[in-house]
Amino acid sequence: MKKLFLLIALFGSLSSISFTQKNCPVIPTPVTYVTPNLDSESALPGIPLSLGVDTTNLPKNLYNQLSYLLDINHQMRVFVTKENPMIQFKKLKNAIEDSYTLSVTKTILISYSSERSCFYALQSLMQLIENKNNEPTITKCYISDYPNFKWRGLHLDVARHFFTVEEVKRYIDLMALYKFNTFHWHLTDDQGWRIEIKKYPKLTEIGAWRDSTVENHYTTSPRTYEKKRYGGFYTQEEIKEVVKYAAERYITIVPEIEMPGHARAALAAYPELSCTGKQQGVEGLWGVFDDIFCAKEESIQFLQAILSEVITLFPSQFVHIGGDEAPKNRWKKCEKCQRIIQEKKLKDEHELQSYFVQRMDKFLVANGKKLIGWDEILEGGLSPNAAVMSWRGFEGGAEAAKQGHEVVMSPGSHCYFDHYQGRGKAEPLAFGGYTSLEKVYDFNPIPKDMKPEQAAYILGGQANLWTEYIADFQKVEYMVYPRAIALSQVLWCQNKPNFETFENNLINYHLPLLEKRKVNYSKTFLAASTQVTRTNEGIAVQINSKRNEEFKVKKTPENFVNNLKANSSIAINRSQKPQEDAIEFTSGETQITEKIIIKNSPTLGLPVKLITLPNQRYNNGDLTLVDGNYGALPWKGNEWLGYDTSEIIIEIDLLKPQKIKGLELSFLKDEGSWIHLPTSITVSKSEGKKSKTIFGNKTNSQVSFIESNQFVPFSRKVSKLRITIHSKTIIDPGLAGEGHQPWTFIDEIRIVK
Ligand code: ACM
Ligand code: ZN
Repeated sequence: MKKLFLLIALFGSLSSISFTQKNCPVIPTPVTYVTPNLDSESALPGIPLSLGVDTTNLPKNLYNQLSYLLDINHQMRVFVTKENPMIQFKKLKNAIEDSYTLSVTKTILISYSSERSCFYALQSLMQLIENKNNEPTITKCYISDYPNFKWRGLHLDVARHFFTVEEVKRYIDLMALYKFNTFHWHLTDDQGWRIEIKKYPKLTEIGAWRDSTVENHYTTSPRTYEKKRYGGFYTQEEIKEVVKYAAERYITIVPEIEMPGHARAALAAYPELSCTGKQQGVEGLWGVFDDIFCAKEESIQFLQAILSEVITLFPSQFVHIGGDEAPKNRWKKCEKCQRIIQEKKLKDEHELQSYFVQRMDKFLVANGKKLIGWDEILEGGLSPNAAVMSWRGFEGGAEAAKQGHEVVMSPGSHCYFDHYQGRGKAEPLAFGGYTSLEKVYDFNPIPKDMKPEQAAYILGGQANLWTEYIADFQKVEYMVYPRAIALSQVLWCQNKPNFETFENNLINYHLPLLEKRKVNYSKTFLAASTQVTRTNEGIAVQINSKRNEEFKVKKTPENFVNNLKANSSIAINRSQKPQEDAIEFTSGETQITEKIIIKNSPTLGLPVKLITLPNQRYNNGDLTLVDGNYGALPWKGNEWLGYDTSEIIIEIDLLKPQKIKGLELSFLKDEGSWIHLPTSITVSKSEGKKSKTIFGNKTNSQVSFIESNQFVPFSRKVSKLRITIHSKTIIDPGLAGEGHQPWTFIDEIRIVK
């Protein structure tokens, strides 16, 4: 009822004007957005380039922000006036937390519950201004709005690569456009310590600099290094400056000081705090390293002294202590660590980590702060006051919520912006994985089956940007935008519009806004994709695009060149000898060129029966095995079938009796991700008749992630093949995922004639 009165007051009598909920240009989409139905009433044309503002009820910082936002995004000016002001403000009492209303009639009225929400209203106002015929206009409307989640975060790793104060400020400024409120600053890791600590100057004198950096993807064999000194750090004065800059944009900075793992930069400066005391340099390779902080009292005191300085710099309630990926090998062999396990009657090294985290928890609580850590802090028992940031899926977060702890959901599946955002070959090098714009938009920090009383512990969500493969700020922007815009919808909206509506808004309003701000956003989501289907003679490659565009298509070896409409397809027939067929297509709209290479063979498109089904997360269909498209490295997720069983049975129908020499099968090895090579393969003409081949050990022990092609001789005349792949049932001790069933990833099977 209240809302109705307000609308009448704003737009005049209800009998003359009606209202509809239309698509709103503002992102994140406000809870309510209505516009008057009469076309003649709808636009407020020709709003002046210089706007009078009545600042009576406007917090002081916000006049500067309003002025900044209108200037930087629209080249408009503001001036203070009480006479016929264009913009007025009103402070609301007893309104929903962080809520605001914004009404655009002949003038603009903003009502807000908090300074923060007044700032959100200014961001919305800025996004309502459109440039039509070189004139700023605003559609008359009424907005009522407030956020769904409390924690709307973006993270930035400044350890793997360092970003300047100015770049970090820009990161924060762009976050503010989309109403993010938490910046998680990952300040320390194996490859660099980036925050000045007065008590321990060597942390930055030594720990902020590395002598070399691995080149290409770290799984490339052989590895090569750029032998150049690399690093940097923020002085405490610079940290204060960034904290203030963020606070002016109502963004809280949560600092992360990693412990007990990812500590090689700190240990390069203070090796006596490791279990072995061995002097090692700041790490130049990416990964997880055995040397971590020893759990002894000296390390705990050292880290608490660091936290003492950190908490004076960051007003944030939360302090992130990392806690992820801490191998326990050193602790297992360390007298001091083992003595603590005995003295404190701990069960194992996981409980020792829990003890370590509890010491930090107590310390932070005593200093009026709260601890948050990655979901590994659940192992060995969660510390009483700790909050959990769930990155290895939703399970850790769900468990923490069940135990009554606060949770931020940041699962790799939806929130890792260091993953590829497209599967095309044109994508720049990334860590691996595949997290498309649509996938991010699909994210919900509250799992479907979660009970409401547990969902109450979910503070919100966050995307993480690890920067192993992001050496400059241009690429930071490329990886974050537009995915962060999709995430802002997830975290703010009560009921977000469907993806198509969002995408249209993104294309029509927000990409131009990003262009005005010179953001190097990715256009990948606009790129065409390919879809392979089976034909009687092989396969067909369809070029899909959401837009009705034409493509210039080249195919070799035939040297076929043509213009084709979106959604048309090109057939590739099975070849009796191995050959490469390449299709290159250039979008008429985006000018993005993509090339797909099909390794053609007598197997292309043959019928395949997956007698054992892959895990549903990694089941892209049986055609995956014979589509000629080999699994990409680094892995982007779709080209492989992933199994978590120790026996896999697959049948291939050769359609008619054929004489063959054998089979070639291709597997992925990425032991860090629990993906192992199989132990043996059995091939037979049909069930029962067997021919066994044991794997040779061809793998390079220095490389953890390779593609392995295995040839299985099977010289027969056959019309059907039954392939049985055997894997270990558990991962060996000392390896990641020990005791669990290893994964087997297979991408392609080829007959060799
Ligand atoms: C993480 O990605 N290791 C938290
Ligand atoms: Zn130790």
